[in-house]
Amino acid sequence: MIQLIRGFKDILPGEVELWQKIEQEARSLFENFGFREIRIPIMEKTELFKRSIGEDTDIVEKEMYTFADRGGDMVTLRPEATASIVRAYIQHKLYAPDPVQRLFMIGPMFRRERPQKGRYRQFYQIDAEIFGVASPLADAQLIFMLVTLLGRLQAKNVEAHVNSLGCPACRPGFRDALQGMLAHVSDKLCEDCRRRRDRNPLRVLDCKVPGCREALTGAPSIIDYLCGDCRRDFDELQAALTALGVSYIVDKRLVRGLDYYTRATFEIQTGELGAQSAVAGGGRYDRLVKELGGPDLPATGFAIGFDRLAEIVGLQAGDYQPRPDVFIAALGSRSRPLAFEWCCRLGREGVRVEMEFGEKSLKSLMKSADRLKADHVLMIGDQELEKQAAVLRNMQTKEQTAVPFDRVVDTLKTASRRPS
Ligand code: HAM
Repeated sequence: MIQLIRGFKDILPGEVELWQKIEQEARSLFENFGFREIRIPIMEKTELFKRSIGEDTDIVEKEMYTFADRGGDMVTLRPEATASIVRAYIQHKLYAPDPVQRLFMIGPMFRRERPQKGRYRQFYQIDAEIFGVASPLADAQLIFMLVTLLGRLQAKNVEAHVNSLGCPACRPGFRDALQGMLAHVSDKLCEDCRRRRDRNPLRVLDCKVPGCREALTGAPSIIDYLCGDCRRDFDELQAALTALGVSYIVDKRLVRGLDYYTRATFEIQTGELGAQSAVAGGGRYDRLVKELGGPDLPATGFAIGFDRLAEIVGLQAGDYQPRPDVFIAALGSRSRPLAFEWCCRLGREGVRVEMEFGEKSLKSLMKSADRLKADHVLMIGDQELEKQAAVLRNMQTKEQTAVPFDRVVDTLKTASRRPS
């Protein structure tokens, strides 16, 4: 039997209801904050990710699904959404009517990492981006949205980490200090970090190899090198979070794994998923729109790891499983055409309905209704055909009533009305 690809997974009925609930909560919350959905392709030109995420990152160096298509063009399955959303923002001049755009998307991403708990090769992200706003209040709004969503979903054991990665004015000073320090511990670094030390020393701070982490214990902290503007923005972000009652940790080690960040960066971390502690991550990327050929406009955003979120929420998929309002038990072949007609009409009228099409005994049909947890069973057989009235059984109270054939659809519509 052909099995699915390692690191990929199916989300089956029974689990998918939880995903739908999470998605519903995210959509409604984001829409309250003025975000609109954007749908972007799953594949892009490889160049887009190289130029945005950065050539020296783990994602671009080791993890992308990149191949030449049949025409010889280099294409990549998207490892994240920000690059594509920025491309769309520029390509369709979404900034022209108003540079301020709040966009979100939900969908699969692909990274060829080593699979383990909370880490997959196809995983899903819930991504939100704000374009055209330089104020740190936009970052605070994003963090507030994240924390609110996690609270609504009863996510366990989560905390917000924030840091600032500075800007082109202050980062070179930090870079020099870091490079100076790295020169002293060079022999303790892994091969990748020795190579990155000169080209992109910030990436060394992001290395997961235990030896590198240990060598970096005395590394300088970027916060000590922030320029006046970056310092002011970082203070304003923290003041806004405090005023909103959002608790957070200033985490000087938080550098994120993508190159495009400037100033505020943040992650939501959890202790529930072993090594995969980040449930969501994001930050400001004020230079990327311009670097990819657009106008000089600031931007900030985040992505939630949907799979990881689904693993730590306090909700149970079972609570969201749809139950039929009515199960139609048709006994004997004479009653089946009419039962089938009701089944189709009820479904069209918004009643959740199930029916078995084959010949079954009443006992076996009632068993099916129980298994599906149907609220009602509508029974029709030869006797009912004679009386021109079906029997409706309320499965909770066990009460049975006769319903004339011409009243079946209306009666069930009323009986199954859900609060809207
Ligand atoms: P990221 O930190 O690379 O950021 O990914 C965001 C989240 O996606 C992670 O915190 C994690 O929960 C989830 N994730 C990443 N890789 C995997 C994996 N292999 N398996 C399961 N979950 C995973 C970004 O992607 C940025 N585009 C976020 C952003 C948006 N920054 C600004 N705007």
